[in-house]
Amino acid sequence: MPDSQEHSPPQHVAIIMDGNGRWAEARGRSRSEGHLAGAEPVRTILKAAHRQKVRYLTLYAFSTENWARSKEEVENLFSLLVRYLDSETAELLTSGVRLRGVGDTGRLPEATRAALAQAEELTAGNTELTLSLALSYGSRAELTQAARNLAQEAQKGLIDPSAVTEEDFARRLWTGILPEVDLLIRTGGDQRISNFLLWHLAYAELYFTDTLWPDFGEEDFLLALNDFQGRRRRFGRA
Ligand code: IPE
Ligand code: IPE
Ligand code: MG
Repeated sequence: MPDSQEHSPPQHVAIIMDGNGRWAEARGRSRSEGHLAGAEPVRTILKAAHRQKVRYLTLYAFSTENWARSKEEVENLFSLLVRYLDSETAELLTSGVRLRGVGDTGRLPEATRAALAQAEELTAGNTELTLSLALSYGSRAELTQAARNLAQEAQKGLIDPSAVTEEDFARRLWTGILPEVDLLIRTGGDQRISNFLLWHLAYAELYFTDTLWPDFGEEDFLLALNDFQGRRRRFGRA
């Protein structure tokens, strides 16, 4: 990537939206109420990203590890997602946003899969901003299935194992159509990746903030973009 990129906005922003549970706990409310409060910043940040000419916004909404949470919390999260899709799809459609679900989406409840498929289909022709929702997503599972696919294709004689390139591998990821992440934001105070986008984060700039996701607003997002634009990305060069 040329140095001239230094002051331009990030093309691909990924966000680990963390802290809903703590936000709710601090108010004596249930974790699910925290998730409900977390829907508002999704709307705000999507609009802000659009205005800032971000082309890809990828949001970590549910990890493969999150399946270990209580049945109640998981069910509430997915019904919230269905409500979000029902209420937002029309606006996504008119505002040029393409929505996609990425992850082991076959594991999602039927109603969630149906709502997702409908939103994906309706917005498939939009090209201004691609909003990817990482759902039942885990990088290790994703990398493993890509390796499995390649091995099966090699076994069938469809590909030559010694000629497999990075691009061939990337194409087999659930997130295959996404470019590299330029900026990763994690809210909620923890400084870790939690099995998110390991492949695409190889040269991402990392930005951590203590702000809990339900409190994360446009100003916080602009601060992160501003911080990114002040950084010098070297990509290994001297
Ligand atoms: C992030 O908030 C949302 C999901 C993981 C679904 P958390 O639910 O992890 O909130 P904390 O980290 O417990 O505060
Ligand atoms: C990461 O948050 C997953 C999502 C935001 C969907 P977690 O709360 O699950 O991550 P850990 O457990 O703190 O690493
Ligand atoms: Mg958390």
